Formats: sequence, structure tokens, C-alpha cells
Amino acid sequence: MTRPTSYLLTFATLTISVLAQSSGLQNGLSDAHIAAVVPGGAPYDAARRAYNLRYDFSPVAVTYPSTAEQVATIVALGNSENIQVVARSGGHNYIANGLGGKNGSLVIDLSNMTRVDVDVSSGTATIETGNRLGDVAFALNNQGRALPHGSCPYVGIGGHVSGGGFGFTSRMWGLTLDAVQSMSVVLANGTIVTASSNSNADLFWAMRGAASSFGIITSIDVKTFPTPPFATIYEYDWQLDYSSAATALAKFQEYVMTDIPPQLGAEINLGRGNSEGSVYFGLTGGWYGESTDALQSALAPFLASMPSANVRYSGNGTYISTIEALGNGIVNTNVAGPDTTDTFYAKSLVTPEGQPMTLEALEAFMKYLAYDGYASNTAWFMQFELYGGGNSFINSINVDSTAFATRSALFTVQLYASSSNYEPPYPEDGFTFLDGAVEAITSTMGDDWDYGAYVNYPDDRLNNAQSLYYKSHYTRLESLKSQYDPTGVFVFPISVQ
Ligand SMILES: Cc1cc2nc3c(=O)[nH]c(=O)nc-3n(C[C@H](O)[C@H](O)[C@H](O)COP(=O)(O)OP(=O)(O)OC[C@H]3O[C@@H](n4cnc5c(N)ncnc54)[C@H](O)[C@@H]3O)c2cc1C
Ligand SMILES: *[C@@H]1O[C@H](CO)[C@@H](O)[C@H](O)[C@H]1NC(C)=O
Ligand SMILES: *[C@@H]1O[C@H](CO)[C@@H](O)[C@H](O)[C@H]1NC(C)=O
Ligand SMILES: *[C@@H]1O[C@H](CO)[C@@H](O)[C@H](O)[C@H]1NC(C)=O
Ligand SMILES: *[C@@H]1O[C@H](CO)[C@@H](O)[C@H](O)[C@H]1NC(C)=O
Repeated sequence: MTRPTSYLLTFATLTISVLAQSSGLQNGLSDAHIAAVVPGGAPYDAARRAYNLRYDFSPVAVTYPSTAEQVATIVALGNSENIQVVARSGGHNYIANGLGGKNGSLVIDLSNMTRVDVDVSSGTATIETGNRLGDVAFALNNQGRALPHGSCPYVGIGGHVSGGGFGFTSRMWGLTLDAVQSMSVVLANGTIVTASSNSNADLFWAMRGAASSFGIITSIDVKTFPTPPFATIYEYDWQLDYSSAATALAKFQEYVMTDIPPQLGAEINLGRGNSEGSVYFGLTGGWYGESTDALQSALAPFLASMPSANVRYSGNGTYISTIEALGNGIVNTNVAGPDTTDTFYAKSLVTPEGQPMTLEALEAFMKYLAYDGYASNTAWFMQFELYGGGNSFINSINVDSTAFATRSALFTVQLYASSSNYEPPYPEDGFTFLDGAVEAITSTMGDDWDYGAYVNYPDDRLNNAQSLYYKSHYTRLESLKSQYDPTGVFVFPISVQ
């Protein structure tokens, strides 16, 4: 096979222009005394490594600012050199968008910006966006305070708050972005502004759900909550034939629409069964009510319809011990050292509260998992995270008050399949397996089913991504994008265009 000449010419031109750009960039960075890692050598390869090893991107540089002013300087430099700029907080984005999701971006790694200040009298905390979730939880807990957020201690607060931020306390306290009172944001033109309900309110709206398309958050001011006096993580496990698994999930779906307490956080975990035709079915979650007895009473109506199972509790009753249990023993990431990596494909499916999944759809799905899933050579799980149900704070918020679009969610389902040894290469049938799993539900539910997807579990293979992620908010986001980022400085896969 011979390559067309035009391809070679294009490649040569690109290489020259990238080198020319990066020398102007490098001078600018060194004039401003900003730490940066540029192409070539082991430090560059370490700095550009993605959490998901399916992606291998080469940024023009990875910069390490220490202040919001330095972040602004870097954005302005990128602007004048015509290079797209992207923030990386914890680097855990599923499609490596923290590296720009493509080659040639200028990365702003925020890991040197790790201040957490708690004002104990007001309960407000100022958190710089280089912090990881575990470190945030630790710092707040030392003051008897807490914030709703996800369970992986290594996830960065910057990316997490940009698109949502769900954890087992979210039915009680909301998403991470619901706790934000104001943000310090670097705009595409390199200016630093405050976004809050009384300063740049339209930007504040967009930043809570689609932040990475609009600016770089350097710090957030959040409302914190007193740590609950009692907390525990619970877990029930079953092996079920696919039809019983479908019935169990249908029953769970009915149960959560009753008057369940907001202190109940829950998810259904599905995995490969121990024989063909069956699935692993787990119920796990956090409980922030009075006691394990109170948890048992809350779950009793659902458990009554299930075969008996033992319950395992983790944590020693304190809030921080539940964070530790969810983090597999890790709270402080600084102490624990670097995170592992993975090689995976993931998708999400947001199911609407008003249109519950039918038993027929659940049977099609469970059957698919019990056969195709059983045969798949990937390491997979499916997680039905409970966003809605009785007394959910997430859904009590007016959907139009933030850009986050799926306030009527019952479940946000995460579908996740790693290569069998968690290393590259990624098998092609991992994609088809997960696409087929979503399809099993959506095709049975039909065209009128108003499902969505979750920006923090991004999938770069979706056809109708913008409407699934942003729903009715996309039009307003597009118009704000042209106002705040007219030249397209913050552009990456699934960004607002
Ligand atoms: C192991 C694991 C567990 C997870 N568990 C949960 C969970 O329980 N609940 C949940 O809701 N989600 C969960 N997630 C998803 C997680 O919320 C997202 O991956 C999140 O975007 C990661 O943030 P990050 O800062 O680590 O990633 P990054 O890759 O650094 O950033 C993610 C995106 O946000 C942008 N961004 C980063 N920092 C900023 C900033 N300061 N300003 C503007 N944009 C920024 C990046 O450019 C990128 O587009 C999990 C992910 C993993 C890998
Ligand atoms: C990105 O650059 C690397 C070389 O650093 C190259 O191997 C890879 O193919 C490029 N990816 C894309 C999508 O162009
Ligand atoms: C940023 O952090 C790195 C690693 O901790 C450190 O080597 C570097 O000096 C820091 N840079 C600045 C400008 O503080
Ligand atoms: C419970 O957990 C807390 C926080 O990790 C710890 O300080 C305390 O010592 C633990 N208590 C027991 C009895 O293990
Ligand atoms: C930067 O962009 C913002 C938002 O569009 C605008 O209000 C501001 O005037 C711009 N600043 C400069 C210096 O151009």
C-alpha cells in the first residue's frame, strides 16, 4: 500500500508548525517562571499518561501553575500561540479529556494547587481544584464537615464538580456542584472572574454541568455539611438467574419510588454470574441515619421480596471510615502514592423517574448480561446508581437552575468493561458488548423513552451526545459558548461547540 503524497505533506507541515508554536510557548512559560514539561524524555511520558491507557495523547506541554494568575497567563499564552488549552485536575476522565482528548493541547495540570480552607463559623470551604476527593474529605472531616462527592479518592475535585459529582450522600445533600456557592474561573481570554448567583450568573449556570467548555475553575467556595453522627457502608450479594435478576431490579425500582429516607444512598451492582444464564446482583450503599437497625427497617420492604442474603458492613461507624471503606482503605492520596491505571471502555445511561424501565426491558438486559456478558472476555460491571427515588435532594432542585440536565433521573447507570488484565490492548468486542447492553434496554423501551447520559462518564462513540448529555439546556449552552469562548480555546471531544 502506498500513502498519498498529500498525507505526507500535511504531516510535515503540521510537525513544523507545532514546533514553531511550542518554542514561542516555551519562552512565554519560562519568562513567567511557570513549571512545564515539554516533549521528549521520561518526565514527558509520565506527565502525559492517561488514567485510561486506551488513550495515548501528546500535548504540546504539561504545565504546573501554582496560582490562578499563572493559570490565566498560560491560557493567554495558548491563545496567542493558537493552541487549545485544557485543565487537568485528577486526570481521571474516561476518554482522557484532561489531556485534551487529542494530540496538541496545552495542558494545565492543577496538582500544585491544593489549598483547602474551612470557615468553621459559616461552614463554607474554599477548595483549590488540584485537590483529590480523598484529600478534600480528609481536610473537611478534620473540621467536622463533609461534602457530597464520589467514592474514588483519586478523582480530582476539578473534573468532578464540572459535570456533577455523585456519591451515596447525594440523595441527602445533592451533587458536588449543588454545594457550590461561587467559583474562581479563568476565561478563554485569560481573565479571572468570579462566577456566582450575583456575579456572572449566566456563566455560573453553565459552569455547573458544563464547566470545562467555558473556563478553568481554580477554586470553588462550597457549602459544607456537619459530618453525620453515624455512617456505614452496607452490601448484600446474590447470584440470580437472569429472569429473577430482572424481577429483582423491577422490584427495587418500585421500592425506591416509595417514601424512602434521604439518608439512604444505594446502587445495584451487576457482574458476571457464576454460571451461564445467571448474573451477580449486589445491593450496596451508604447509610447516614441513626443506626444499622434503622437501615434494616428502611430496606425491609425490598429485602422481603428477595432470597435471603448476608449483609456486610464496612467502616467503624464514623463518616470518615465510610470514605476510607469506599476508597479501599485510602483516604489521603498524598500518603498512599500514585493511583493505578486501567484500560477500559465505559458508557452511561440515565433512566427517567417518570418512565421506569419495564420488566420486558430488564429481562432483555439481564439475559444479555447472563449470556453475552458471561461469554465476554472483558472484566466488566454495571452500576445502577440511585439519583432519584423518594426524598431525593438531587431531583428537588429545579432542573433549569444549573446546566446539569438530568434532574429527573431515577438511576444513572454506569456500564464499564476493562481488558481482562487491565492493560492494553483493548479488545474490540468490549465496545460491542457495552453498546449492546445499552441497546438491550433502549431498543425495548422504544423511541419515546426520554433517557440521557452523564457527562462525568463520557463516551466518545455516541452519535447524539449533545442531546443525551445536555438535554434541553444545549441551546443555551451553545449561545453562552459563543459569548465566553468565541475562538474555541476550550474544545475537546463532547465539549459544547
Ligand atoms: C475510579 C473512578 C471512580 C469514579 N467514581 C465516581 C463517582 O462515584 N461518582 C461520580 O460522579 N463520578 C465518578 N467518577 C467519574 C469522575 O467524576 C470523572 O471522571 C471526573 O471528571 C474526573 O475528574 P478529574 O479531575 O479526576 O479528571 P480530569 O481528567 O482531570 O478532568 C476531567 C474533565 O474535566 C476537566 N477539568 C478538570 N479540571 C477542571 C477545572 N479545574 N476546571 C474546568 N474543567 C476541568 C478536564 O479538562 C476534563 O475535561 C469516577 C471515575 C473513576 C476513574
Ligand atoms: C498522537 O501522537 C502520537 C505520537 O506522540 C501518535 O502515536 C498518535 O497516533 C497520535 N494520535 C492521534 C490521534 O493523532
Ligand atoms: C509543583 O509541584 C512539583 C511537584 O510537587 C514541584 O516539583 C514544583 O516545584 C512545583 N512547582 C511550583 C512552581 O511550585
Ligand atoms: C474509627 O475510625 C476513626 C477514623 O478513621 C478512627 O480515628 C478511630 O480510631 C476508629 N475507631 C476504631 C475503634 O477503630
Ligand atoms: C474576556 O471575556 C469576557 C467574557 O466574554 C468579557 O466580558 C471580557 O470583557 C473579556 N476581557 C477582555 C480583556 O477582553
